[in-house]
Amino acid sequence: MQRFASTILLSLSVCLLASLVPANAAEPTHQERATVLITGANRGIGLGFVRSYGERGWRVIATCRDPAQATELAEFANEHPNVSIMQLDVSSASETAALAQALNGQPIDLLINNAGTTGNVRNQSVGKLDMAEFAQVLAVNTIGPLRVAEALLPNVMAGKQKKIVNLSTSEASFGMDRGPARIPFYRSSKSALNMLMLNYAKMVADRGVTVLLVNPGPVDTDMMKGAGMKLASVDSAVGQIVPLIDQLSLADSGKFWNFDGKPVPW
Ligand SMILES: NC(=O)c1ccc[n+]([C@@H]2O[C@H](COP(=O)([O-])OP(=O)(O)OC[C@H]3O[C@@H](n4cnc5c(N)ncnc54)[C@H](OP(=O)(O)O)[C@@H]3O)[C@@H](O)[C@H]2O)c1
Repeated sequence: MQRFASTILLSLSVCLLASLVPANAAEPTHQERATVLITGANRGIGLGFVRSYGERGWRVIATCRDPAQATELAEFANEHPNVSIMQLDVSSASETAALAQALNGQPIDLLINNAGTTGNVRNQSVGKLDMAEFAQVLAVNTIGPLRVAEALLPNVMAGKQKKIVNLSTSEASFGMDRGPARIPFYRSSKSALNMLMLNYAKMVADRGVTVLLVNPGPVDTDMMKGAGMKLASVDSAVGQIVPLIDQLSLADSGKFWNFDGKPVPW
């Protein structure tokens, strides 16, 4: 009799518990999802990040210069309601301010400053060094990431993870400089990005914000067309960088990381 009563009690408690848990409990709510904002998300490594975080169920804010032309990104977003597309040219102060205003009050766990350009290589040789081209490369690779980080800092501080990741390159490393001069505008703009973000990491450390510089290694994207070297696929590079970002924390802030988790010399 006692055994029968406890079986009834157990069944009742299971029913009660089941009625308290919503049917779609596995699905995180809009507020529960971690959020990532990615710049230059329409192709290359940026699109790779969108696919990776999108498939992990994160809320992804994929920004690009021209959403109307971002067909591959739009296709992915159509299949993944957790991915939204917003316009951002990172060299534009007004577009950055408009984005920050549109996202006012929304937490961003992870900001990935991915957009980048080498500039036109033909304008980077002696006798043809084009200063307007250099200014544009700096605007995209150096000033842009800092402006975006500053504009979205309140959002990042409102997020749980509080991380800002900047795509740098081993081409920016003084310690690894070998071989002939090449793409000086690109290389120096990324060296400047490194020093900027090293400082920014120190400036925002007391707010609990982690600032990282990551070298993705040579990856098979439009940027590397005709580079004549062995290139990793976007999926393989992103597949290594995403777990690295997961793992790095405030103690690792202000450092320059290789995609495989080793430090890159400045
Ligand atoms: N691929 C590599 O081997 C490699 C190695 C080291 C570092 N990186 C770094 O990784 C990042 C991604 O490179 P990737 O290889 O994916 O290059 P990519 O294929 O050339 O793509 C560059 C991305 O940046 C965007 N972009 C350029 N200027 C922009 C601007 N003013 N505002 C917003 N977006 C802009 C492009 O958008 P549009 O389509 O509108 O031009 C595109 O989405 C870059 O920061 C790059 O320096 C790449």
